[in-house]
Amino acid sequence: MNLILVMSSVSGTLIAIGTGNLYNDIFYLAVFFVLIAVLAAAITINKALRSMLKVTMPEVVKEEERLKAEKKLSRKNYWKSTWNYIMGLKPLEQEKDMVIKNHEYDGIEELNNPIPVWFNALFYSSIVFAVVYLLIYQVFGWGLNQDQEYEREMAKAEVAKQEFLAQSANSFDENTIEVDETGTLAANGKALFTTNCAACHGANGEGTIGPNLTDRFWLHGGEIKDIFKTVKYGVPEKGMVPWEQTLTPAQIAEVSNFILTLRDTKPANPKGAEGVEVTAYESEGGAAPAAESEASADSTATN
Ligand code: HEC
Repeated sequence: MNLILVMSSVSGTLIAIGTGNLYNDIFYLAVFFVLIAVLAAAITINKALRSMLKVTMPEVVKEEERLKAEKKLSRKNYWKSTWNYIMGLKPLEQEKDMVIKNHEYDGIEELNNPIPVWFNALFYSSIVFAVVYLLIYQVFGWGLNQDQEYEREMAKAEVAKQEFLAQSANSFDENTIEVDETGTLAANGKALFTTNCAACHGANGEGTIGPNLTDRFWLHGGEIKDIFKTVKYGVPEKGMVPWEQTLTPAQIAEVSNFILTLRDTKPANPKGAEGVEVTAYESEGGAAPAAESEASADSTATN
């Protein structure tokens, strides 16, 4: 029963990996089964011969079994003595040879047991390890020491951080954007401003077609959230382009941060004030609600 199962599973694999030629497959399968049959026949014949031998020449069989048992015993002894050697164990009979002479106090004697092999192995391998370690980390500098490992981890973390920031930089909008205190975004935004915005707002934000971005007067609010919103959605009916299709949220954030840095820069040829004056920006402690300034901006727009 088992044999059939094994054979069928084996032939199953053979078919699965088959050569692609059906006749070849059948041929190999046939060869396979013939070989199995030959093996089975050989085992059967061997068994039959042995039982015949038991009847006809019992002393030969007995001798064979005795030799086998002997071998087993000597193998067992070998392992036992090896184990005792490694553990440094001595048979009890040898104890009196190991007693330390003239070393008896109040009837207590001490044995001079050998240091077990395992302990010595550990001891010497620790020395070897130390030498190898010294060479790798201190002499050849192949391995990273703690400081270098720290540096590497930090560099890795920095990369991960940048990736994360790049991702999250694209996931904010006019409701979540905050002023970037580090100034990195603003620095990146300068180039964006020059390419995309300077044509209408002037190279320094002094204003030409578009309003002056350096003064404190705003049509649509001067806080970061307002500027982000204006840049993103634009004011199409007044000629301000909606940038959300052209710039990524991260880029809009950069250019918006850059515009904040233009405040009070007093460039040459400034365009006149438009909109409402923001007397106190959020960064200056004021909190002019954006909606209010927008509402009044429409009524006071001069363009
Ligand atoms: C085609 C010309 C043009 C370009 C290019 C342009 N703008 Fe404008 N922008 C305008 C005009 C016109 C207005 C005024 C809209 C209004 O009157 O409501 C404006 C208004 C603004 C405002 C609002 C100012 C306020 O007083 O509230 C901001 C902020 C602004 N633009 C930023 C940008 C940025 C950033 C870019 C580049 C990414 C840019 N603009 C590109 C024409 C332009």
